[in-house]
Parts: sequence; C-alpha cells; structure tokens
Amino acid sequence: AIKGFVFDLDGVVTDTSRYHAKAWGQLADKLGVNYPNLGDAVKGISRMDALEMILKKGGLENNYSAAEKEKLATEKNDNYVQLIQHMTPNDILPGMAAFLKELQANDYGIALASASKNAPTILDKIGLKDVFTKIVDPATLSHGKPDPEIFVKGAQLLDLKPEQCIGLEDAAAGITAINAANEVSVGIGSKDLLHEADINFADTEDVTLANIKAAMQ
Ligand code: G6P
Ligand code: MG
Repeated sequence: AIKGFVFDLDGVVTDTSRYHAKAWGQLADKLGVNYPNLGDAVKGISRMDALEMILKKGGLENNYSAAEKEKLATEKNDNYVQLIQHMTPNDILPGMAAFLKELQANDYGIALASASKNAPTILDKIGLKDVFTKIVDPATLSHGKPDPEIFVKGAQLLDLKPEQCIGLEDAAAGITAINAANEVSVGIGSKDLLHEADINFADTEDVTLANIKAAMQ
C-alpha cells in the first residue's frame, strides 16, 4: 500500500519553473543561443546539466573553460534568486496546500526530491518549511534526473520502499526518474510531455487523495 509521497518542487508545489525559464532564457540570449521550448527542456535538470544543454544547442560546448561555465551558471542563479525574492505563501500552486494538509491528516510520509539548491529558501518563503522536513540534498547526488537516485533517496528518508511511494512531477525527466525508481508516477501538466506517467493530472488542483485512489483502481 502507498505510505508516502515524494514531491518535486518547481512546477509542482509552486510555479518557479517560469522563473527558471526566464533566467535561463536571459543567459541563452546573451550567449546567442536560440533554444525553442527551453523552459520545458530545463525542467528537472540540474543547474550545470542545464547549462551544458544550452551550450550544446548553440554548438558552444567547447568554447568555455570549467571556470567560465561556473561563472555562467552563477550568473543565471543570481538572476533566478532575484526572481524568487518576493515569493510568499500565495505562490503555492492551487490545491497544493490542501493536498499537503490532507496527506498530513492521513499520516502519509512527505519528502522533497527537487534538483534545486534553492529549494530550502523557496520552502521558507512559501511557508512550507515545516511540512517538508525530509529533503534530499541535491549536492549529494551522483546523477540528476532522469536518473532514479533522487527519488530512491526520497523513499529512504521516509523509511519506505519505493513501491510504497508516489512521486509527483511536472518534468518528463522527473517522470522517467520516478518510474526507474519503481515508484508510482504522477505527472502534473501536459499529457503530451508526461505521457510516461502512471497517472496524469492537467492541473495541481486535480491532485487529491480521492482522485489518486480512483486513478489507481
Ligand atoms: C529544478 C528545476 C530546474 C533547475 C534545477 C536546479 O529541477 O526544474 O529547472 O535547473 O531545479 O535548480 P537550482 O536552483 O539548483 O539552479
Ligand atoms: Mg519540476
């Protein structure tokens, strides 16, 4: 039986994916790289992996030293950090605060599996620090999404087997990771993008225990 939920953050709990898209877009423009659908492509992808994707798209992967790449990634992050400064609990996506309360009331485990090093800051700003006490530290990962590692570690933090967990994601790379971890995957957003998910919801508002149970029958 399902005993825990392992959450992605950006695009699932709060709409920070648009800020990631904006900050990466600024950097891609500066580098002269045209990257259609950049916002979707970087979803779930770690900071350095996302930078490499953009450089590769522009055929620039050999044009920068490791130190220069660090600088570019820092520049993106500085812009991103500016964009998240004003976040408040009003930035929790529709239905998510209620869903988290529902999980707590029913004694489900709750863990965070976000690739973002800014996750603790964001949780603090949106008032969910006390809900997400179990956070996989992305700095400890050998492989980012789509590798299952982050979702396997999320289950471990809950003292559960992966089969006892549901993973929630808005990114294709994240759904691949959940499936490879042997958890039940819930995709939130475009079904075209998230067709590998076990269960699909168009919006965060649709994510309730009743809807998940109905979809698992
Ligand atoms: C999440 C986002 C990605 C982002 C990654 C790293 O997975 O979906 O778009 O690149 O986190 O975030 P960070 O805040 O550490 O740069
Ligand atoms: Mg996400």
